[in-house]
Amino acid sequence: MKYGKVLCASLNGIDAILTEVEVDISGGLPGFAVVGMAGKSVGEAKDRVRGALKHSGFKIPAERITINLAPADLKKEGTHYDLAIAICILSACGGIENAIIPQDVMFIGELSLNGKVRGVKGVLVMAELAQNMKMKYLVLPKQNLREASLIQGINLVPIEYLKELVLMLEAGKLLTQKASIKITHKIDSEYDFSLIRGQESAKRALTIASAGGHNLLMSGPPGTGKTLLARTIPTILPTLSKEEMLEVTKIYSVTGKLPKNQAVITQSPFRSPHHTASHVALVGGGSSASPGEVTLAHRGVLFLDEIPEFHRQTLEALRQPLEDGVITVSRASGTLTFPAKFMLIASSNPCPCGYLGDPKKECSCTPMQIIHYQKKLSGPLLDRIDMKIVVERFDTKKFAGKVAEGESDEIRAKVTKARNIQRKRYAKIKAMTNADLKIKNIEGYCQIPETEKMYLIRSMENSNLSARGYHKILKIARTIADLDQSEKIKQKHLFEALSYYDNQALNM
Ligand SMILES: Nc1ncnc2c1ncn2[C@@H]1O[C@H](COP(=O)(O)OP(=O)(O)O)[C@@H](O)[C@H]1O
Ligand SMILES: [Mg+2]
Repeated sequence: MKYGKVLCASLNGIDAILTEVEVDISGGLPGFAVVGMAGKSVGEAKDRVRGALKHSGFKIPAERITINLAPADLKKEGTHYDLAIAICILSACGGIENAIIPQDVMFIGELSLNGKVRGVKGVLVMAELAQNMKMKYLVLPKQNLREASLIQGINLVPIEYLKELVLMLEAGKLLTQKASIKITHKIDSEYDFSLIRGQESAKRALTIASAGGHNLLMSGPPGTGKTLLARTIPTILPTLSKEEMLEVTKIYSVTGKLPKNQAVITQSPFRSPHHTASHVALVGGGSSASPGEVTLAHRGVLFLDEIPEFHRQTLEALRQPLEDGVITVSRASGTLTFPAKFMLIASSNPCPCGYLGDPKKECSCTPMQIIHYQKKLSGPLLDRIDMKIVVERFDTKKFAGKVAEGESDEIRAKVTKARNIQRKRYAKIKAMTNADLKIKNIEGYCQIPETEKMYLIRSMENSNLSARGYHKILKIARTIADLDQSEKIKQKHLFEALSYYDNQALNM
């Protein structure tokens, strides 16, 4: 009877949990079983491990091998247990000569049949766990070294082959390495504001939305540049702070979406899911409880193009992240909460054909079609959108003349300045932007003169301005004042803010 134990990690949402891999090798009919709520990808580990051990020149005992993954009540998914399982078997059956496997090492990696170690998802959060648990070493696939190097205070042992690791263990010396990570703040985009002709007021609205983190809905006929405007937003957003980079990179590491050759995400994400995207794809969850688009857009932009085409139920699910900055998804064993603090940018045509109210082209929709289309956006969701603008057809004469380059760089500098003012002002409370302000802080931080206040209150009485709308206007006015580098909110700031809220032309 032989026994072995090594340490590994499991992913639970976007967190890593320390996991013990145990092996029991005892007489009986030869067999190989993995227990401990192992999902399909983990169950298949036994075939990969068997192949890898054989091809690396090790003998697998012709006995009954049982692998247990503890804690046994957590569902295990992923291929990263392979390496720990292989080392565990080798240590139990004496495959590693004279070696005592140290218990302050975490082993992560997928094995291919020839014994090569492949990269896996979620190494960044596992490295963070290893560091929090005060482990001495993390053995990991060479492919994931750069990403893990973001975590300080843990010795990284990158390997390419199983055999290489066995030799190190036999020699009693793990070779550590660290990759240097260059963080570039260069904006890499094919878009620039200078490529957009006309649409000055839309550009101004996007500048304000980006500066304060406000949500924005653009409505207008097709071909006026709504999609183009939205795709240009990443060029005017400030680069992420160090903490934000880590937060966002973790999400991309766990979902396996880190771009190749890029260890860290430095720019705000921009996600634009198609309207046919499923509910799970958008909000997350499903059998593997993985994060959805709202989480991938964390600290960045979620762009819903032609928003009325999305399923109503899916749009309703956006209410929680819009309000709280997180999304809760349920799975069989309970619920998981993912971060989902994003700026919602949406576009919409006025009707299915897009020409309702167009002076040049007649709308071909029936009244029922129009009502149905506009009703897709429920009142409560629309009420959570801070700014609404109309993107009108622009004068084609604007195409004359050369484009002035670098407009996005200029705007980004202004937006960054305004964001820094906010960060400083809100250092003591849990907010980064004006949009983040919670009700108890709004009136204190967004003070307006008494006469203007009375004007706003009268507008509330006379129009459909809701209480939530009142607070939104204060926050937007605060952002406009910040862009103006004005400590006080002035009348002109407030009136401009009002124009983005009380947009009757939207007709929705
Ligand atoms: N304001 C503009 N300046 C320059 N090109 C534009 C503008 N608006 C639209 N275009 C051109 O028309 C194309 C379609 O615009 P798009 O953003 O998709 O419009 P919409 O989303 O409003 O239907 C763009 O890719 C671009 O080539
Ligand atoms: Mg479009």
